[in-house]
Amino acid sequence: MTIANKRSRSAEPQPAADLEARTLRERAMGAMERAYAPYSSFHVGAALLGSDGSITEACNVENAAFPSGTCAERAALAAAVARGVRSFRTLAIASSADEPTPPCGMCRQALIEFSPELEVVSVTRSGKEARWRLSDLLPHAFSPRSLETSDE
Ligand code: THU
Repeated sequence: MTIANKRSRSAEPQPAADLEARTLRERAMGAMERAYAPYSSFHVGAALLGSDGSITEACNVENAAFPSGTCAERAALAAAVARGVRSFRTLAIASSADEPTPPCGMCRQALIEFSPELEVVSVTRSGKEARWRLSDLLPHAFSPRSLETSDE
């Protein structure tokens, strides 16, 4: 559902950007509640706002073979790409930690391929919040340009 399709429940009219930000957090929170994390008990939800206004969310999915588990952020990215979205404005992360958590290194690398200037906002159940720009979280990233060579 795009932000434009979602009605505000509050009496006061809200600026579109506020509503968009709140909806994104709610989608990340909802995904976090569906996390499959029986081994770490660390629940994560991620919601990606595409440049087209679409929102794609996912949660972490663990596995008895531990390395087979997947982070919420990369799961959301894969789902968004699968629906044809390759450019993103904002990533909302919700986790069960006491403090807002940034995306792990592997997720930073996966995301920066698509949107280096992505805005990342992380929230907790108690309402704490932190924000970063992805390019600040992963300076000097390995990028598609890093693969270029002068060889024919
Ligand atoms: N996890 C995420 O989903 N995203 C991150 O950025 C960090 C970690 C998950 C992986 C694992 O299921 C659990 O959190 C504990 O590391």
